[in-house]
Amino acid sequence: MSKIKGVIFDLDGVIVDTAKFHFLAWRKLANDLGIDFTETQNEELKGVSRVRSLEKILAWGNVSLSEEDFNEKMAVKNENYLSFLTNLNSEDILPGVSRVIDFLIENNIPIALGSASKNARPILEKTALIGKFQAIVDGNDVSIAKPDPEVFISAAKKIEIPQENCLVFEDSVAGVQAANKAGMLSIGIGDKAVLHEADHIFSSFEEIEIEFIKKLMIL
Ligand code: BG6
Ligand code: MG
Repeated sequence: MSKIKGVIFDLDGVIVDTAKFHFLAWRKLANDLGIDFTETQNEELKGVSRVRSLEKILAWGNVSLSEEDFNEKMAVKNENYLSFLTNLNSEDILPGVSRVIDFLIENNIPIALGSASKNARPILEKTALIGKFQAIVDGNDVSIAKPDPEVFISAAKKIEIPQENCLVFEDSVAGVQAANKAGMLSIGIGDKAVLHEADHIFSSFEEIEIEFIKKLMIL
């Protein structure tokens, strides 16, 4: 394993608990179309772009839409999702995350965001985290969604750290697979059974000891 010199964070479900709002908004949209939508199916949407998510939901329900209706549904889902974020602020940063971010900054480890979301920048602004990231790569910057590694490769380039020296924090199967494909160390945040492809898995950032991160940096 290579020494860690740069860290890339996913956003939704890693830094803030917005994954639950994506779930609620997709479920409403699916149900309005007469399509059932379970938490298990939702795992398959985590980390996945907005377009790809809607394509998957429609396929599950065997529903097809015109391009115009498809775009309208995406807009409706996003408006509904954003309505949950009105009061988002720094208190919504998930427990234990700021401690890790601050430790990395104090130790001159560059940090980047690698998110599929087109809403990433406003979320980082609302939570007052935007200034802490040396690079942001989000859904507006990439053309191929996770599990393709493009988002993480691009983030590594921006912070000028070789891919094999990067660590990725991810809560989604697609994101863990993307990090693995990029040859990065993948740390899953969430359920061990779901994220079993990750190199290390923690149920939350609160479980991560600073000592553990220090060891990765001095290998
Ligand atoms: C990912 C989320 O971070 O971003 C997905 O895990 C979401 O659930 C995707 O669909 C795209 O987000 P947005 O905000 O551009 O719709
Ligand atoms: Mg996520």
